[in-house]
Amino acid sequence: MEKVLIWDLPTRAFHWLLVVSLIAQYVTAEWLDNAIQWHFYIGYFTLFLITFRVMWGIIGTEHARFASFVKGPRAVWGYAKTLFDKDSPESLGHNPLGGLFVIVMLLLVAVQAISGLYMTDDVFLDGPYRQLADEETLAIMSTIHHVAFDALLYVIGLHIAAVVFYTIYKKQKLVPPMIDGAKETRDLGIFHSRMRLALAVAIVAAAIVYVAIEVYPPTPGAGEYYYY
Ligand code: HEM
Ligand code: HEM
Repeated sequence: MEKVLIWDLPTRAFHWLLVVSLIAQYVTAEWLDNAIQWHFYIGYFTLFLITFRVMWGIIGTEHARFASFVKGPRAVWGYAKTLFDKDSPESLGHNPLGGLFVIVMLLLVAVQAISGLYMTDDVFLDGPYRQLADEETLAIMSTIHHVAFDALLYVIGLHIAAVVFYTIYKKQKLVPPMIDGAKETRDLGIFHSRMRLALAVAIVAAAIVYVAIEVYPPTPGAGEYYYY
């Protein structure tokens, strides 16, 4: 057995930045007064993270690619049946059930961030897409922004419970590889993190988000009210 690189640095950075961003989103919406402008900015950053991860899931390194971990119902069910076996072999990347979970989490965060674009704090700030929608759509988006976060909390709770379950019950340590990227295995790992490609992907993702929130909305900044 040898320690080899499984999770590239961009995927690991994505993960921990997502964790920090979601905590910051909660804090700026629920705990701090007058922090909604920060809530918007961090929301845009979260959109960037998701856009990056979707692109990285297509052209990133082996275990980061959706094609390597998104499996059909048969594989997911087959794996689920072995979930409580203590000696089931460790997956190199995400296991089929975990892969499904990853997609659910990414989708929920995307829905949360996109619905935020239609939100208002009812006082000073409107999300950039607020002018684009009619009252009915705005009401739906507001409901989604509240409900999706509750759903996200359950899913994140399950995610962390699963990681603890793997660590304690199955004796498979998943957290250290999400930090240093390495797993002990007889298989070959990836050879490098493809940082130059990741930088190019990050630039394109940032450009997409910039266009989506600054260029595309017809009257940028409209609906923003200031103190006089
Ligand atoms: C806001 C909270 C969190 C969210 C939204 C989240 C989301 C995610 C996502 C999307 C992935 C897939 C990574 C990828 O392929 O890009 C993932 C994997 C992972 N997360 Fe989290 N995570 C959260 C908190 C945590 C915490 C607190 C831990 C540590 C206890 C953790 C440990 C892991 C591990 C070990 C994996 C890899 C699982 C595997 O080996 O298949 N996560 N998480
Ligand atoms: C993934 C990213 C996001 C997360 C996790 C998130 C989370 C939250 C949460 C937990 C609340 C409080 C809901 C409640 O009181 O029940 C909230 C409210 C809000 N969010 Fe977000 N949000 C995100 C993105 C955004 C974005 C991108 C915008 C706008 C551009 C936005 C604008 C708002 C506004 C205006 C409120 C209402 C604040 C108030 O009640 O005054 N959010 N968000």
